[in-house]
Amino acid sequence: MTGGTIARVPGALPLIGHTGAFLKSPLEFLKGLSAHGELVELRFGRKRVLVVCDPDLTQEMLRRDRVYDKGGPIYDRMREAAGNGLATCPSRDHRRQRRTIQPAFHHSRLPGYARTMTEVIDEAVRGWDGPEVDLCHETRSIASSVLLTTLFGTAFAPEARDALARDLETILRGGLRRAVLPEALSALPTPANLRYQRARRRARGMMADLIRAVRAGDGSGDSLFATLVNQHGAGTGDLPMTDEELVDQAITMYVAGTETTAGVVCWALHLAAQHPQAGRRLADECRSVLGHRAATWEDLPHLPYTRQTLLEALRLNPPGWLITRLTTTDDARLGDHAVPRGSTIVYSAYLLSRLPARYEEPEHFAPERWAPGTMGAKVPDGVFGGGARKCIGDEYALIEGVLMLATITARWDVRTAPDAPKRPHLPALTLNPTRLMATVTPAAAPDGSR
Ligand code: HEM
Repeated sequence: MTGGTIARVPGALPLIGHTGAFLKSPLEFLKGLSAHGELVELRFGRKRVLVVCDPDLTQEMLRRDRVYDKGGPIYDRMREAAGNGLATCPSRDHRRQRRTIQPAFHHSRLPGYARTMTEVIDEAVRGWDGPEVDLCHETRSIASSVLLTTLFGTAFAPEARDALARDLETILRGGLRRAVLPEALSALPTPANLRYQRARRRARGMMADLIRAVRAGDGSGDSLFATLVNQHGAGTGDLPMTDEELVDQAITMYVAGTETTAGVVCWALHLAAQHPQAGRRLADECRSVLGHRAATWEDLPHLPYTRQTLLEALRLNPPGWLITRLTTTDDARLGDHAVPRGSTIVYSAYLLSRLPARYEEPEHFAPERWAPGTMGAKVPDGVFGGGARKCIGDEYALIEGVLMLATITARWDVRTAPDAPKRPHLPALTLNPTRLMATVTPAAAPDGSR
């Protein structure tokens, strides 16, 4: 190698390398890596893995998406669940897919999606009867209904939507599990694997029917898929997407967009409950703007602290805590460093969000960091990726997150125990809690009434 040296992280043991230290405490392990350099090398058995420990170098890598392409074992396994959709396809297929899908996320579409979000959130949160709720379950169920309604439109019968949501949940859980399990275990005819295969067949069949209905123009004119079907290829010369490809995209959106958004709202509610001063400020904002009603698109500019709280929760608990790329060329350089072809490179929003050079007291929950004009970046480093593969649903997610957090906070006082979030057993694909029990009581309106 020429140029800057890639630092070898000390502590590699014979045969296993850093595997033991990583598995013992993955998050603590990640946090310690930046002390060794901006680009460092780990060993997992015989496999070498590079980790980028600097936000600018991370963005440089993400911008060069043909050199540092999607790949590696996790993406290969995710492809099994989500097909060759936007999030998992290699860069050679990506430009066409992104051009086709981007109009569905254009700014002009967001107010319409926000209307759906408000309706779903309003109905769900109104139905809570307390005093105990699992916020994980509630936020996932909201995010799931929002996503399916925005994808396919309201012409979709609620019972069919619930059945599809159940199958997609099975695919999501199964896909996440299978991505981190040894391949041989995924092929065994265990009850979980058979359930996954059945759910996958049923969900794909049902989504293919929905897509045919959208193509036939059944009145779901405002849905995300109606935009895809009606605008594809317009002016670009791209081939239209087949039904099969559209089903892959629908599964991709579901996997990428439900648990991520729900998880960050859970963390925000928990962190606000654990930090009384920030919690009070959040509640004051939401209740003075909304009273007890649900938040809408028009309220968004009046809920800045709610957005800041969400961003800070996202910084502390980014769902995509470990994401990989595969180096595809011989002469790749990253900053000053030569990177061999075939190298797996990890970027981690969790690691970047804890850099002391970037964030004062990085472990401290401080929504004030995100006050307009305070931070250079508008969102925490790396939480939505970057370059051509940047999250296509970033604004959609932040809007949904703010509407959900504000509506819940306006209507309910939420209390959680410090150890309430049950974290997944790492290494899992996301940091989202699997359960978050909370005590909820109706909130007092600004005039003291309940
Ligand atoms: C807080 C919520 C969310 C977070 C933190 C998040 C995070 C991310 C990240 C880090 C990536 C880049 C992955 C990589 O570099 O390999 C990504 C990509 C993606 N996200 Fe999100 N996401 C969120 C919500 C959503 C939503 C709501 C949708 C859809 C409605 C969505 C759809 C996608 C898609 C399709 C991609 C792939 C984009 C491409 O490769 O062109 N995400 N997301």
